[in-house]
Amino acid sequence: DKSFERVLNAVSKEDEVDELKIKITILFGTQTGTAEGFAKDEYAGDDDQYEKKLRKETLAFFLVASYGDGEPTDNAVRFHKFLTEGQHRGVWLQQLTYGVFGLGNRQYEQFNKMGRMVDEQLREQGAKQLIPLGTGDDDKCIEDDFSAWLETLRLALDQLLFGKDAAYVASTSFTVAIPEYRLVIHDTAATYSSGNIHLNATDGNGISAFGVHHPCRAKVAVRKELHKPESDRSCIHLEFDISSTNLKYETGDHVGVYAENSEETVEKAGNLLDQPLDLLFSLHTDREDGAKIGSSLAPPFPGPCTLRTSLARYADLLNPPRKTALTALAAFASKPLEEERLKFLSSPEGKDEYSRWILESRRSLLEVMAEFPSAKPPLGVFFAAIAPRLQPRYYSISSSPRFSPSRIHVTCAVVCGLSSTGRLHRGVCSTWMKVGLILFHDPQNSVPPEENYDCSWAPIFVRSSNFKLPSDPSVPIVMVGPGSGLAPFRGFLQERLYMKCDGVHQLGEALLYFGCRNRTKDFIYEDELKNFVEQGVLTELVVAFSREGPNKEYVQHKMIEKAAYIWGLLSKCGGHLYVCGDAKGMARDVHQALLGIIQEQVLVV
Ligand code: 2AM
Repeated sequence: DKSFERVLNAVSKEDEVDELKIKITILFGTQTGTAEGFAKDEYAGDDDQYEKKLRKETLAFFLVASYGDGEPTDNAVRFHKFLTEGQHRGVWLQQLTYGVFGLGNRQYEQFNKMGRMVDEQLREQGAKQLIPLGTGDDDKCIEDDFSAWLETLRLALDQLLFGKDAAYVASTSFTVAIPEYRLVIHDTAATYSSGNIHLNATDGNGISAFGVHHPCRAKVAVRKELHKPESDRSCIHLEFDISSTNLKYETGDHVGVYAENSEETVEKAGNLLDQPLDLLFSLHTDREDGAKIGSSLAPPFPGPCTLRTSLARYADLLNPPRKTALTALAAFASKPLEEERLKFLSSPEGKDEYSRWILESRRSLLEVMAEFPSAKPPLGVFFAAIAPRLQPRYYSISSSPRFSPSRIHVTCAVVCGLSSTGRLHRGVCSTWMKVGLILFHDPQNSVPPEENYDCSWAPIFVRSSNFKLPSDPSVPIVMVGPGSGLAPFRGFLQERLYMKCDGVHQLGEALLYFGCRNRTKDFIYEDELKNFVEQGVLTELVVAFSREGPNKEYVQHKMIEKAAYIWGLLSKCGGHLYVCGDAKGMARDVHQALLGIIQEQVLVV
């Protein structure tokens, strides 16, 4: 991150300081790339490596994201275990001075749990805290939280490194370089093979360690619409064929899917960049003479690659741009008015305007670029500083491997609606899933497939989760999953059916609360759910139809009607309660309803 470069420059620009050769290590735990964007270097290893490395560090900063229910991100799982199980090492980190910045979201109950944990553990194990823990909130503007933390860090570092000269160093002004990859344009006639490689996606034969950096190429075997024709919304059922891969999953796991931006989005981006989509190019981190340039981040995709493919697969074009992206755009605006406005939006003075004009109205990067047509950044800058890498989308797997070993099922609500700026916003991945449906199954509505456009497969990987059935099948379960929140429970019920057929007779009671608008429109998997009841693996199916009567009826209203029963299952039988779906609205309201149920029932008892 540029602000951090400023700190590092502060260390290296002064001759006398240069001699000190101060090494600062920055470690990050990232899931969606934000912490990675703020930092530089991934910290992955085993216990021995961690111990050896940490013993040597004198100054280190940790940028740690919390995931889901305060869990570590995939690349920080082992580090988390290493630290939390490290008490036996006693006070062994006295040589280390550190700072932690946590990345989280206040919408989640365990806000920044990982950041707090790393901070606490380092202190307990003897390290010296240089500055208080920074807690970034992605529900607001996490970039501002990070900048504020960096400012505190800069002052503390100046004090630590320069002591009485700190004031002089702090007053030195620094120019901030905009990160840029070296761009090489290739002859279109030359071999054009690697452009089609998606990250390291392989067909999976013989490879067992798939993950976010190493997805597996999986064919789409089934794709269908779950809503009835009367519905004006869409929910897609998709099955990835994993039969000839080594991909494995468990009931309740998540699948990460790398989808592509739509042709329409790609074309708009190509126009805004003023570049032909069949331009073949590659990006490099070194200069022609082999010397490294600024950024140590590897190029975001393999090359040579056409602009069409790179924009479709690797560029996040529909999220609001970060402030650093606006700074980079400003540097290439040829009209002074545009340059000024972009600079203002990314400045501390423009904080409120940035929140209002960009974040609150969810203006996408493309929309912002369209407002500043004179800003035409070169591709090396666009991919290094303006468009973040397109991230995979995660879905709860809606099947059980016992029932469906060679298929991963996904149940995906299609994201499509008007943004407050009047733009028709379509979700990247759900649109990709739906477009496939139009291309393959609805000739009436068909759009001609573009030359490079292929939605018959995708790079995917499995992310394990702790959303699991009780290990003892006789323990009762209460499942709450309106809309596509039903997904993991379909997997649970398939698993219970498999267990029953396999001779497990002691299945505990299972209660499912499902909610949808109208039984004639969006009652997804209706027949399957009724079949689970008939088969005796679902004790009761309770459905709340929110738009059938004069009043809204939601899952939590139905739960309150059966308060005593639910409380009995949970309190007397040690039952498990699961909620899946919209975290901001539904899950909060269900939580409140549950608290009410418990209070009331405890009083009754
Ligand atoms: P609505 O769209 O009529 O408001 C699946 O999306 C179902 O969840 C829909 O029936 C939807 O109802 C309902 N839903 C929306 N907000 C909810 C909330 N806060 N609590 C519970 N259900 C909700």
